[in-house]
Parts: sequence; C-alpha cells; structure tokens
Amino acid sequence: MTHEPHSAQPTPTGAGFFYPRPAESDDRHLLGLEGMPAAALIELLDAAARYRERLRAGRMMSDELRGVGVCNAFFEDSTRTRVSFELAERRMGAVTVSFSSAGSSVSKGETLLDTLRTITAMGVDLVVVRHRSAGVPSYLTGHLDVGVINAGDGEHEHPTQGLLDILTLRDAWRGRFERRRIAIVGDIGHSRVARSAIFGLRTLGVEVVVAAPATLIPVGVEELGCTVATTVDEALEGADAVMALRIQRERMEAGLIPTLGEYARVWGISAERVGRMRPGAVVMHPGPMNRGIEISPEVADGDYSVIFDQVENGVAVRCAVLARCAAAAMREVR
Ligand code: CP
Repeated sequence: MTHEPHSAQPTPTGAGFFYPRPAESDDRHLLGLEGMPAAALIELLDAAARYRERLRAGRMMSDELRGVGVCNAFFEDSTRTRVSFELAERRMGAVTVSFSSAGSSVSKGETLLDTLRTITAMGVDLVVVRHRSAGVPSYLTGHLDVGVINAGDGEHEHPTQGLLDILTLRDAWRGRFERRRIAIVGDIGHSRVARSAIFGLRTLGVEVVVAAPATLIPVGVEELGCTVATTVDEALEGADAVMALRIQRERMEAGLIPTLGEYARVWGISAERVGRMRPGAVVMHPGPMNRGIEISPEVADGDYSVIFDQVENGVAVRCAVLARCAAAAMREVR
C-alpha cells in the first residue's frame, strides 16, 4: 500500500535524504551500501562465506593484513561491531589499536579531525569509525589519506551490519534473493541498520516491507523502494524474514510513541505474529535487544531466531571488508 503523509505527521529528525548519490568507487573505503552494485555485494558476501569456513574450521590466524595498521575509532558505544572488527583484524595479522572518545583528548576539546590526524600520523592505513553524526566517515575521506570504514554513522548507514544481515539471509534463503520478502519492523526513521539493509536488499531484488507507528516512518521512504504496512500482522503475513529494530526510550520521551508497553503490544514481534510468516522464515535483530519490547524473549531464543548467526557472520564480513579495503590502501601506498 502507499504511505500517505499528512501535514500533522512529524518527520523524524535525521531521517536523511532520499536521493541517489554516486557510488563510492574507491575500494579503500566502505561508506555505505547505497549505490553498491550487486556484483560488488555478492563478491563481499562470497569472500565473507569463505572466511567463515576458515573461522569455523579452527582458530584462523593468517598474515593477510601483516604490516597493515588499523585504528578502531569509536566515538559512540558498541559491543558487536567493535569486538568483531578487533577479532577480524587480529586473526588477519593486522597491527591494530582501538580508540574510544571516553578517556581521550576529545574530552579536552580536541576536534574529531585533529584527533584522527594525530592517530593516522602514527602510521595507520585504515580507520574504522563509528560516530553519532551522519556523514563523519565521508568527511574523513576528504581529509585523511587512509582507508575509511564506516562502523555506523548516526542515522545514515551501517554497511558491515547490512552485509552480515544479507549474508545471514542468503544462508536462510538457500542463496535465492528473488521473490523473497522481508519485513523490517521498528524505528525505521532513526535506523542506520534499516537503511543499509534496505539499500543492499533492494539491489539484490528482495521485496522490503517496513512497519512502524507513523511517527517512526520517514516521509518518502517509498523512494528507497520499500512498501509501508500499517500493521505488523500485515507486514509479516507470508514474509520470508522479519528484522526487529531496537526501540529507544528517547522515542517515548520525544512523544513519538505513547509508551514502551503499548509499543510492545501493538508492534512487538511475538510468537503468534511470527506464525504468520512462511515456513522456514527467520527472525533477525541487529542487537542490542530490548527483550519484551520490540521482540519477545521466546522469539529471540526460539527456533526461528538467527540472531547469533548474525553475530557470527559479523566477524567473517569484517574480515572480507578489511581485506578489500587493505588491499586497495596498500596499492595506493606502493
Ligand atoms: N548491531 C550493532 O551495531 O551493535 P553494536 O552497537 O553493539 O556494535
């Protein structure tokens, strides 16, 4: 169905602009999945699947990134993304350091750019950056002579999360994306996870239905190639997967949802709702989860759940992305 915005409907702040941008062509960087061609997506997924085989086979230690300096610069909290990048870097033999804004000179007023110029002057080839402001990774590519990997920028994109989500779906869907449908339920307007998933999945031909209270659906979301469902039941009926997104308490405090309890009742992914999907359908969540709010504990831990497959795939995807970006960065150095 078509989503009809009306004048009283607020546009979530930071919902972003929906217009095509040129594809990022410099392989040193991974800024987003928007505009990435299907062949490039598949190449990264295939590489990640190969790394996953090696990781599963034993304690993978390689020297593919020997001599490559990587700095994980996290200006915002993270568990999954940061730890999986660190593990991937160490398993591939990189010289790796991690930096978080807490306890650094950022608290003394040093600018983002001065901080990262300082770190890269110490001999770093790749910067993995997470920041609460959309556009920071793109900005850095214009000011630093290193590869930049986006580990989540504000409400813009989280491309390695998008890749690990797509790899998880490719396994669940036995390699076929065409004629598959995923429901993404939750705070679409503020979600970089949703945006990266939508860009990548639409490129691969997957039908994407989004569902949320109208206050959390960005006006113009159809321009990303999605359809909007007005209820979670409508979104899940006959779907091949559902991705539940985290609901933050701030959305209630900002008046975008009445209460977390009501959200859970009206939009939460419950066992009864999951039963509306096709046989073999899967339940995903990028984490961290609010059990009992956007997803019930029995669904999170149930047979449909592939949440920990997503986490496992995160290390393999980050190996593949690091290998691609490092190869291009080292070519640049030579
Ligand atoms: N999914 C995700 O980005 O989780 P973290 O915030 O823990 O990295």
